[in-house]
Amino acid sequence: MASVQHSEGDRRDFLYLATGAAAAVGGAAAIWPFISQLAPDAGTVAAGAPVEIDLAAIPEGGQIKILWRGKPYFVRNRTEAEIKAAADVDVKSLRDPQPDSARVKEGHAKWLITAANCTHLGCVPLGNQGDYGGWFCPCHGSHFDTSGRIRKGPAPTNLPVPQYTFVSDTRIRITGAAATA
Ligand code: FES
Repeated sequence: MASVQHSEGDRRDFLYLATGAAAAVGGAAAIWPFISQLAPDAGTVAAGAPVEIDLAAIPEGGQIKILWRGKPYFVRNRTEAEIKAAADVDVKSLRDPQPDSARVKEGHAKWLITAANCTHLGCVPLGNQGDYGGWFCPCHGSHFDTSGRIRKGPAPTNLPVPQYTFVSDTRIRITGAAATA
């Protein structure tokens, strides 16, 4: 009997993961016009060259999801309330202690860029959901705040921040996937 329950659990997890993967692909399709506009050589993008993203089209409170080097990333234009909520957290209380200021670029606090795979088992969390207003991962119930930091649920670490630079006030270039914030 125990093995049947285990099997059902596996199947449920698989379905959730499959849903996450589909969401990632959908997001990539939605943002593809941005990427194709900014980086004409799609073959180069696929090979892993840095990618530039136009931020001007993302409204305050909105986010986009892009696919780069085969992985999804969130680019979020945070509201003042979201920035304040992220900054007001007692960092010592966090599972993966990082101040919000270490996860954004100085002078550009409204823009949060993170990897979009949950640090538990890799699903793609849902934006503007969960107990902390950031992201909620439906696979096993991880809640991330408006800085992409894990606040509740099984994910062990924050959503990683990739290496990127601002090439202008409305344009970023993502150059590396490592989370070194
Ligand atoms: S993959 Fe398990 S909580 Fe996100």
